[in-house]
Amino acid sequence: MKPPLKIAIAGLGTVGTGTLRLLRQNAALIERRSGRRLVVTAVAERDATRDRGDALAGLRWERDALALMAAPDVDVVVELIGGADGVARELVTAALNHGKHVVTANKALMAHHGLELAQLAEEKHVALAFEAAVAGGIPILKALREGLAANNVKRIYGILNRTCNYILTAMRESGREFNDVLAEAQRLGYAEADPSFDIDGIDAAHKLALLASVAFGTRVDLAGIHIEGIRHVSALDIEFAAELGYRIKLLGLARPTALGLEQRVHPCMVPRSTPIAHVDGVFNAVVVEGDFVGRVMLEGRGAGAEPTASAVVADLIDIARGSTATSFALPASQLMPSVPAPMARHQGAYYIRLMVVDRPGVIADIAAALRDEQVSMEQMIQRGRAPGEAVPVVLTTHDAEEAAMRRALERIDRLDTVLEAPRMIRVENL
Ligand SMILES: NC(=O)c1ccc[n+]([C@@H]2O[C@H](COP(=O)([O-])OP(=O)(O)OC[C@H]3O[C@@H](n4cnc5c(N)ncnc54)[C@H](OP(=O)(O)O)[C@@H]3O)[C@@H](O)[C@H]2O)c1
Repeated sequence: MKPPLKIAIAGLGTVGTGTLRLLRQNAALIERRSGRRLVVTAVAERDATRDRGDALAGLRWERDALALMAAPDVDVVVELIGGADGVARELVTAALNHGKHVVTANKALMAHHGLELAQLAEEKHVALAFEAAVAGGIPILKALREGLAANNVKRIYGILNRTCNYILTAMRESGREFNDVLAEAQRLGYAEADPSFDIDGIDAAHKLALLASVAFGTRVDLAGIHIEGIRHVSALDIEFAAELGYRIKLLGLARPTALGLEQRVHPCMVPRSTPIAHVDGVFNAVVVEGDFVGRVMLEGRGAGAEPTASAVVADLIDIARGSTATSFALPASQLMPSVPAPMARHQGAYYIRLMVVDRPGVIADIAAALRDEQVSMEQMIQRGRAPGEAVPVVLTTHDAEEAAMRRALERIDRLDTVLEAPRMIRVENL
């Protein structure tokens, strides 16, 4: 049998302690499947005083994570500290430079610096694996690299953020407003004290950038992603969505187009008849459309100690077996530069909600603004009658260009009968 694989774990928070627990609990199974033992030789964590039960019994403990990189009894450094820069970046760079394999769950680091780190890993002939960084426990990177490797991917999309999916699901089920449900999510530990990273779509964008790179063989292009979060989704929109046969989901979507690579993260109207519309609560899902395989959907827990540890340890098992791949499925030098498709040229259907004064001629003015921009209406709902007062008017459009839709909305917003800024949500053809 091969000698044990010696592992150092930096960061013993949610994922770090989950990883330690999994390596202990399933040690015998993991050893059989890897053909060798996986042994944690050291951990790095700033706070030695925190009670961690017997999680650290028998392990060398370092206060300074950078001490791990040079240690001779470490083959793999597992970076579970987090953050695009700072210690995490220093540690990963140093570990690779010292010829150690690296496993990380850090999507921010990989989305910002993945290309340079992948290049370094290749130069040093070591692995840099990050399955846990994208959709937690869902093995989507492995599926793209291996099981789907023969396909041209036409489109990839998914529910990539647990916090947003929890909030949108709870809003739909309870009829409550965003702020109320966000506060509940924070109490339950599904949202951070500062939730902006999640609810403004940044976290989903990090994951989409990585997915798109692996799916399309392009360089990670975070800056090329159009990002909108879920702060402006209201209970009323969710109610109208249901009436129109949709559910609202925060999706990350990417596909190559004639104008470049389209990458978008924003709330979407998703037809209720599609499987992804039913991925609720803390679950994530990724759908891949391949030219030969057709549509494949993987659903599972996108975060949490145990699912994320499952992905971290899967990467460790690959390293133990010696079956590692290049980080982004192609050598870094072969990844194509990504040309972003301009969002203004995006073609799609739209849901628009307006609050208007209920008076004759209002609808005609709205219809004229749409007509002048060649946006054709599919359906319209006017809820209730209250002459002279505010009523919601909802309409959906056929496919139109984003720039034309925005010009029409600017004109509609200027009408004195329109009382609030129009709300627009893209309707996805999935
Ligand atoms: N949580 C999830 O469900 C999940 C899912 C997928 C991916 N991830 C990713 O996994 C990574 C870790 O996330 P997490 O949720 O486990 O975070 P976390 O609970 O905050 O854990 C991070 C740990 O790193 C420690 N740390 C900070 N600076 C350090 C340093 N200089 N040296 C050593 N340790 C240091 C922190 O200690 P202090 O408490 O003392 O600061 C903390 O214990 C992140 O990149 C995250 O994006 C997390």
